[in-house]
Amino acid sequence: MKQMAKIGFGMWKIAPGDCERIIIDAIKAGYRHFDCAADYGNEKAVGNGLKSAIDLGLVTREDLWITSKLWNTYHHPDHVEMACRKSLTDLGLDYLDLYLVHFPIALEFVPFEERYPAEWVYDPKAESPEMRRAFVPLQETWMAMETLVEKGVAQQIGVCNYSSGLLHDLMSYANIKPAVLQIESHPYLTQEKLIRLAEQYGIAVTAFSPLGALSYFEIDMAKPDDSILTEKTVQDIAAARNRTPAQIILRWGIQRGTAIIPKSSNPGRMRENLDITNFSLSSDEMAAVSGLNANHRFNDPGEFCEQAFGLFNPIYD
Ligand code: A2P
Repeated sequence: MKQMAKIGFGMWKIAPGDCERIIIDAIKAGYRHFDCAADYGNEKAVGNGLKSAIDLGLVTREDLWITSKLWNTYHHPDHVEMACRKSLTDLGLDYLDLYLVHFPIALEFVPFEERYPAEWVYDPKAESPEMRRAFVPLQETWMAMETLVEKGVAQQIGVCNYSSGLLHDLMSYANIKPAVLQIESHPYLTQEKLIRLAEQYGIAVTAFSPLGALSYFEIDMAKPDDSILTEKTVQDIAAARNRTPAQIILRWGIQRGTAIIPKSSNPGRMRENLDITNFSLSSDEMAAVSGLNANHRFNDPGEFCEQAFGLFNPIYD
């Protein structure tokens, strides 16, 4: 079975018009693992970028690892396969390397013709737009995810944003075990217990937003002083090792055993973020970076759903 590269490239918040150029630059820089999702609203553009890269002879489909994610409005077993196939069509692929449940949050179904991606609000044009929950058990969604593996449209399946409790529950009924757990993790949110539990269950962990606040400035979900790059601990290690602060944080991410999916629109930073496999941090340096943990989560539906979509909807306690 193909291995998922430990350093992937996240496609969240990349405008469709930029995807092709960024994918080609990223492939030229050496990225082979692309983390996509229906909700990112750019899968057609990502598909065009992948096709161009393949047509240019830079890579073959087999060289690539492509992840996509099932959006919240398609959790019902009747909608899982069609959502996966819609992502495949948009991406121009006939199989995904990995398909993940994006959130343990089921929302009322919205037909593709009505709105795609459906995002969080049921009807944005309504007088009082609202998020509408659908009460679909995660077990039913998972059973439908398993059929995707049986049909060969997804090589592997997994989940995102699950807590330890949900992971225990999933392991109790899964016939096909989740291959990957994708969670927010960086030095301000080290998630040691959850990562340890995933390891115990043999589930690989991918850390999204491995650079912490940097992902969130442009969407007003972090303040400038939330940046980990300016932490003295990180800057001192970076200076001592003649590396950038971002490289220290990303190295910490892979050295603790997680995959990471940083993104950059800048070819120099794309290369910088990949150039972290030829040095290692000492155990003291690893502990110093881990010591920055503040349990600071930037991507929390318990906060942004209420602020942006009017429904208090926590999934983490
Ligand atoms: P840019 O695209 O201008 O490089 P994440 O992957 O966690 O979502 O973070 C992405 C953010 O981090 C983007 O704003 C990106 O900006 C920035 N970024 C990515 N790599 C680096 C780096 N090596 N140094 C500084 N900022 C970076």
